[in-house]
Amino acid sequence: MKKALITGVNGQDGSYLAEWLLGKGYEVHGVVRRTSSFSRKYIDPLHGANADSPSKLELHYGDMGDEKNLRKLVEKVRPDEVYNLASQSHVGISFDMPEYSTDVNALGTLRLLDAIHDYCPEARFYQASTSELFGCADESPQTEQTRFKPNSPYAVAKLYAYWMTVNYRQTYGMYACNGIMFNHESPRRGENFVTRKITQTVARIALGLDDHLSIGNMDACRDWGYAPDYVRAMWLMLQQEEADDFVVATGELHSVRELIEKAFAHISIQLEWDGEMAVERGIDSATGKTVVKVNSKYYRPIDIDSVLGDASKARKKLGWEPTVKFDQLVELMMKADMEVVATAR
Ligand code: NAP
Ligand code: GDD
Repeated sequence: MKKALITGVNGQDGSYLAEWLLGKGYEVHGVVRRTSSFSRKYIDPLHGANADSPSKLELHYGDMGDEKNLRKLVEKVRPDEVYNLASQSHVGISFDMPEYSTDVNALGTLRLLDAIHDYCPEARFYQASTSELFGCADESPQTEQTRFKPNSPYAVAKLYAYWMTVNYRQTYGMYACNGIMFNHESPRRGENFVTRKITQTVARIALGLDDHLSIGNMDACRDWGYAPDYVRAMWLMLQQEEADDFVVATGELHSVRELIEKAFAHISIQLEWDGEMAVERGIDSATGKTVVKVNSKYYRPIDIDSVLGDASKARKKLGWEPTVKFDQLVELMMKADMEVVATAR
């Protein structure tokens, strides 16, 4: 039985990846942090839950900031595949915590790569790289050849991790890959990322628990895909003859504003826009009530206006295709949040 080690197993991607690998018959080991409030609702059912199944998820305490701990874990588990998904993953917060974001996202990756090099150099390594590496890109759509111009502490730290992954591949012949993933979302998305914040708040408005959505830059455009599709691409990258780096994206571009309109349409509210920039608001065209307000506290010191990916290489070499695009993604997240909010009421 193959063994996989996932850092960040308790996150959106980690939980879907654990499910995917368990389904493939892997023995899965996940790294979790010690936290004072305990929330592992997506991975708890996988944690030794199915007594009939020979494969299971085993959890280990660890932290990307703790070199000894990572080395001991790698030495103990001796995985065949390592998926490094752990990170301080919020771009906006990385401006408030640049040093911490660098320690976890950049040096954390180096610590892990070095442990693998020393204890199980044959293991295959996946690094969660990101479209944020492109920053305000020189060309559109972006491919594996597009120049990197990171413009946040998060992205600069991820750039270091990207190149360290390439460096360990080139220097030591390790099978190490970067997935340059564009935004991917799901009902498990963290609540302070824009998609989930919108679907959750709109669901609360529908159920009378909130009266408006407070939002930042609505003109930012992203290439939003569905997280389970993206974890499949991660796995595919580690099943090839040679290690390589791949862009993973849907090739569709939409704005935050479109996302808001679509989410409100799901609860039968049609929006009209009034004002500009920090005083812009969205009005329910049937009632005249303001249901969207811009709040400049959600603006970033620098933002990326637009990122759009060209995943031709992943399509060709991995046979990967996205199964869910923007419209369906918003629908499924709205449906899920309507249920979650109604149940929690
Ligand atoms: P996520 O939901 O925020 O999950 C991140 C995970 O990392 C969490 O489980 C978190 O633990 C863990 N973590 C944070 N700091 C840690 C530390 N110091 N030591 C150990 N674990 C730590 O992120 P995601 O959306 O699943 O993304 C997975 C990875 O892909 C991340 O590296 C992200 O930067 C990258 N990425 C994501 C996207 C996207 O659109 N989702 C796109 C490109 C790249 P807790 O559960 O304890 O908080
Ligand atoms: N989070 C958030 N909250 N973003 C907002 C808000 C708000 O209230 N209002 C507007 N936005 C805008 C942000 O300024 C940004 O332009 C866009 O919505 C998307 O923000 P996020 O959902 O936080 O995602 P991100 O694109 O910055 O980063 C995500 O995707 C990256 C891949 O491109 C994260 O998952 C990163 O970890 C990932 O690397």
